[in-house]
Amino acid sequence: MSLFLGIDVGTSGTKAIILDDAGAVVGTGSGRHEPDAPQPGWSEQDPEAWWPSSLTAIRDACRDAAIEAASIDAVGLTGQMHGLVALDATGVPVRPAILWNDGRSQPQCRAVEERLGIEHLVAACGNRMLPGFTAPKLLWMRAHEPEAYARISSVLLPKDWIRYRLSGEMVTDVSDASGTAVFDCARRTWSDDLLQTLDLPRSWWPHAAEGPEVVATISETAASETGLRPGIPIVAGAGDQAASAIGTGLVSEGRVGTTLGTSGVVFAPTDAWRSTPDGRLHAFCHAVPGRWHLMGVMLSGAGSLDWFRSAIVPDIDEAAGDDAFPRIEAMANEVPAGADGLLFLPYLSGERTPWPDADARGAFIGLDLRHDRRHLARAVFEGVTHGLAQCLDLIRSTGVRPRTVTLSGGGAKSELWRRTCADLFGTPVTTTSTTEATACGAAILAAVGAGAFASVEDACASVSNEQDRIDPGPDREVLMARHEVFARLYPALQSEFPAIAGND
Ligand code: XUL
Repeated sequence: MSLFLGIDVGTSGTKAIILDDAGAVVGTGSGRHEPDAPQPGWSEQDPEAWWPSSLTAIRDACRDAAIEAASIDAVGLTGQMHGLVALDATGVPVRPAILWNDGRSQPQCRAVEERLGIEHLVAACGNRMLPGFTAPKLLWMRAHEPEAYARISSVLLPKDWIRYRLSGEMVTDVSDASGTAVFDCARRTWSDDLLQTLDLPRSWWPHAAEGPEVVATISETAASETGLRPGIPIVAGAGDQAASAIGTGLVSEGRVGTTLGTSGVVFAPTDAWRSTPDGRLHAFCHAVPGRWHLMGVMLSGAGSLDWFRSAIVPDIDEAAGDDAFPRIEAMANEVPAGADGLLFLPYLSGERTPWPDADARGAFIGLDLRHDRRHLARAVFEGVTHGLAQCLDLIRSTGVRPRTVTLSGGGAKSELWRRTCADLFGTPVTTTSTTEATACGAAILAAVGAGAFASVEDACASVSNEQDRIDPGPDREVLMARHEVFARLYPALQSEFPAIAGND
């Protein structure tokens, strides 16, 4: 029997999963590391902190599987996307990594978009230049930390730093490279046009391989620290969104996934290159060779319910602990779909899709004397789902025809939320039985790279399971009528948001 290790270098910790060659999970483990916010809107992490948490996760997963690390046959990597790990000529980070949720490069993004135009950017890389992405963080460093900038000799993404520690090789994969804003996603290679225009050296960027390709092997040094066998293959892997899609079986056009985590993500694999002309959806390479994906990212998904729990119903929060969410769901279920006319705008942390606007803010609109906190709760569930449905509308506008939507993340446990999704998406929704889909996706890529499966599609067929199907129901009509009103609210308020956010 062969064993495959998937490692997911996330924002708050590293997770590891071990799969056998039948695709069964035999062990999981985790290790913690913390993000740091040295200034409001900044988010950093010392790459050195990812190594001990990865060692802990690997050790835990092996203990859970009751195996020695030496019996693992191949490794796949995934992790938080977009983070800038800038290294000097000796391979040492020149500063802490600047993470995906760091907004400091907003002025650089605005300047590039004004100089080049969104159309040029979308033609060159498929996407807009957004502050979370990697390249604008380098432009920020050039303006604000010229000494550290002058020492840069290479650039890696977070999971690729762990690969470097495991093997000594600097390599990335096409799905993670897609989130740098200087990768020509249509052609699956670095954009010489953008690198030249932005004056970023081509030599800094690592080779970008396809997800299941073997690109490195475990070094003697890493073997002595991890217990893994020296020389076993490491595949290129994937950014966390593409890896999670593989772990959930979302590998071909027509399947769509929605993650109801802190953020809300709508992920649609495409069989051919597709993008939106104004770059409103991310258009990235999938980690499945020859496939791409479209993606909408809402910054406050289930995070909106976390806010509701602590700001509006702290009494429930204290009394119920972890049972707070079912209680909030029960409250919301006491009022009809449409919340008697109340709407919620979920822009609590600004927004990325469908409106890339750091100044956007949340709102309850339509309050009247009938409304109490049950209506507020229902409006929060519905407001987030209206936003997700707008992402899906954008996906449909590219020609993709979603047949089903697979829900994952903590919010997918809510039956009300699943029903609201089915009604507003106009498709059946399901959930998946896969646990730790992201690390699992990386392990699947390792299994494919090692030859245990003929293709990613074959591997997914033996791993992922859909369950809990819900079809659109009788509430669809009232919710769709509200959807039209919801869609008009951001455009109506847009010009006021900078003043509301105190940024005018
Ligand atoms: C994807 C994105 C997040 C990060 C953090 O575009 O920003 O998924 O990768 O997990």
